[in-house]
Amino acid sequence: MSENASGAVDLGRGLILPNPVGLASGTAGYGFELDQLIDINRVGALYTKGTTVRAREGNPPPRVAETGGGMLNSIGLQNPGVDAVAAEYAPRWKGWAIQVIVNIAGGSVEEYVHCTTVLEPIDEVAGIELNISCPNIARGLDFGRDPVAAARLVAAVRAVTERCVIVKLSPNVTDIAAVARAVEDAGADAVSAVNTYIGRKIHRASGRSVLPLGNGGLSGPAIQPLALAAVAAVCEAVDIPVIGVGGIVDAASARDFLIVGASAVQVGTATFVNPETALQVLDGLRG
Ligand SMILES: Cc1cc2nc3c(=O)[nH]c(=O)nc-3n(C[C@H](O)[C@H](O)[C@H](O)COP(=O)(O)O)c2cc1C
Repeated sequence: MSENASGAVDLGRGLILPNPVGLASGTAGYGFELDQLIDINRVGALYTKGTTVRAREGNPPPRVAETGGGMLNSIGLQNPGVDAVAAEYAPRWKGWAIQVIVNIAGGSVEEYVHCTTVLEPIDEVAGIELNISCPNIARGLDFGRDPVAAARLVAAVRAVTERCVIVKLSPNVTDIAAVARAVEDAGADAVSAVNTYIGRKIHRASGRSVLPLGNGGLSGPAIQPLALAAVAAVCEAVDIPVIGVGGIVDAASARDFLIVGASAVQVGTATFVNPETALQVLDGLRG
C-alpha cells in the first residue's frame, strides 16, 4: 500500500484521479442526482451507468431484492444510449473536478467500438470502463468469461481510442487472473474488479424467483471477502493498476483492497444506504 492512501492515482494515458475513491458503475447514474446530495467533486472518479449503442429500457420489475448483507439487482442496463450521453449528459460534466469515466457495454465487439468512437472526441470523458461482465443481459458475460474473447474486444477498443481503457472484470469465472492477464496483454491500461456475483433469491410463498429473469447480480458487504480474494489474485497477475470494488462500506473495508495491492477503489451499493459513503471513505483514508 502506498504511504499516502488518499493521494492521486495515475491510471495511465493521462488519466490521473485526484484521489483513489470512485463511485461504482450503476450506483450513481451519470452523477446528476448524487450531485444534488453530496459534494460530488470531492470524489476522485465517477464510473457511469453502463452505456450501450441504443437506449435500453432495462429488465421488467422487480429489479432489486434485499439479501443477507447485500442486494441482488437485475437492472438490465437501462440507459439512454451513447448518443444521448454524448450530446446531453457530457456537456453537463463540463467544469466538474471529478473524473468521469464512461462505463460501456455491448453484445458485440462492434458495439463496444461504436460507443468508444462516439465518446472519443468528448473532452469531458476522462476514460472508458469496459463492462465485459454484466450478468443481467443475454450474452453479457461472454467476453468476461473467455480470455481470448476479452483480449479481442480490448484490442479492438484500444485501436480506436487514446483514452485510458479500464476493463471491469467478472468474478463469475474460474480463473479471473487469466482474464486480467489477457486484457493487460491486449492493451488495457487498468482493470477494475469485481462486478456482481451471480445470485438468486426465492420468493418462498410462491416458490418462484423474486427477480423475473431468475438470477441477478449480488453486491454489498456480503461479497467483500470474495471480491478481496479476487482482487488479490488479479493484483498478483498483472502490472497495470487494479481498482478494487465489492462490498466497501467504510475506509477500513476500502483499505483492505489497497493492502492487497489495489491502486484505487469504487464504492457501489453502500451509496444507496448512505450517499455520503464515498466521501466518508475518502476522509477515513486521509485520517
Ligand atoms: C443497481 C446496480 C447496477 C449496476 N450496474 C452496473 C453497470 O451498469 N455496469 C457495471 O460495470 N457494473 C454495474 N454494477 C456493479 C457495480 O459497479 C459493482 O461492481 C458491484 O455492485 C460491486 O460493488 P458493491 O458491492 O460496492 O456494490 C451495478 C451494481 C448495482 C448494485
